[in-house]
Amino acid sequence: MLKSAQLLNRVSNDDMAIRTILHYPDPLLRAKTEPVAAVTPDIRALVEDMAETMYAAPGVGLAAPQVGESHRLFVIDIATEDEPSDLRVFINPEIVNKEGDQVWCEGCLSFPEISEDVQRAETVTVRALNQAGEPFELTADGLLAVAIQHENDHLDGILMIDHLGVIKRRIVHREMLKRQKDNG
Ligand code: NI
Repeated sequence: MLKSAQLLNRVSNDDMAIRTILHYPDPLLRAKTEPVAAVTPDIRALVEDMAETMYAAPGVGLAAPQVGESHRLFVIDIATEDEPSDLRVFINPEIVNKEGDQVWCEGCLSFPEISEDVQRAETVTVRALNQAGEPFELTADGLLAVAIQHENDHLDGILMIDHLGVIKRRIVHREMLKRQKDNG
């Protein structure tokens, strides 16, 4: 998801690397993702790169397929500019409960400068592993619930455009194709 606030000043580690974020209609955004078999140093390095890439964008969430990695994992930080960072890592996430409805004007780092209203559950409960490989369960509402559902969709190759009505979907699709062509 896209962060609406301006560029954040975050402390970064020299070992981290900013990855290229794939833009729609890159086919890797639709690729099947595999569960993470073990939280290895390589997976932790990928998590660090993804966090760095998300903060640099800036965004509130980033899923592994958006950097071309077909793993079931995403990162989220919904802290605002004047709050301390609050990085949350979700490895092999599973949404086990959804309640209510909310509509949020969502963006996505794979659809730069596009934002559209999307209907999601108001509250979700998710089970996942953190970056230490420890299981946790979290019940979230509001923006955090939206971000969890948005990023979890990425792991199944589902994109925000898939939640739009047919006309808006066509407009966004054409706009992204046009940009792809303009960028060569
Ligand atoms: Ni997204």
